[in-house]
Amino acid sequence: MDLSVLYNLSYGLYVLGAFKDGRAVGCVINTCFQVTSENPSVVISLNKKNYTLEAIQENKRFSLSILAEDSDPMVIGRFGFTSSRDTDKYEPFGYEVIGFTPCVKGKFAGRLILDAVKTLDCGTHILVVASVVDTVPGSGTPMTYSYYHNVIKGKAPKTAPTYRADEAETVKESKHHFECDICHYIAETDAEELPADYVCPVCGADVSHFKKLD
Ligand SMILES: Cc1cc2nc3c(=O)[nH]c(=O)nc-3n(C[C@H](O)[C@H](O)[C@H](O)COP(=O)(O)O)c2cc1C
Repeated sequence: MDLSVLYNLSYGLYVLGAFKDGRAVGCVINTCFQVTSENPSVVISLNKKNYTLEAIQENKRFSLSILAEDSDPMVIGRFGFTSSRDTDKYEPFGYEVIGFTPCVKGKFAGRLILDAVKTLDCGTHILVVASVVDTVPGSGTPMTYSYYHNVIKGKAPKTAPTYRADEAETVKESKHHFECDICHYIAETDAEELPADYVCPVCGADVSHFKKLD
């Protein structure tokens, strides 16, 4: 079976926000699609290891902020590569409470306020069916998963349902490449080393987190 055909499925990118034990938690997801239009509802897929799933199991209400192409990419680094188990992900950005759920501050293409109504166990992941209880308009072009990969040069961690182990091998051969050990962003440069003040454009890690690939 040629699994690369799955790479042709398309997705958006979202920041999920929820409260757990009174704390604002959340994570990046790319798996969200609308399943009904009357009484609108969506389905999302959450890895069982993710703290955010525990939050939704405790408190059914959550938000999805729809990332735009010009949203701050640091939001993806922090919400997609650290865990709310041990990190206050909202600390650099702040949040506002909309419909009793936290929404990270910043520019987004819109937000959905949702209530989880059903789940389906899919092994490593749980599918959550959620009803849309409110919407907040935003602005900008919604960021697709392919834009994140091809333009921002971002990667996805193993917990993402669409994780690809081969991504690090797809870099070009003509330049030097350095990989961020937090978010796996690959910096390309003609120079032998990255500048000392280089900062990862996706997760904000300093140059000490970059390992040379070639
Ligand atoms: C581009 C991208 C897409 C992701 N998609 C998903 C997803 O659809 N479902 C999921 O469970 N995790 C996904 N993740 C991984 C979670 O965001 C990540 O495991 C996060 O650290 C979980 O944080 P938590 O433990 O605070 O919930 C994705 C991460 C990135 C960067």
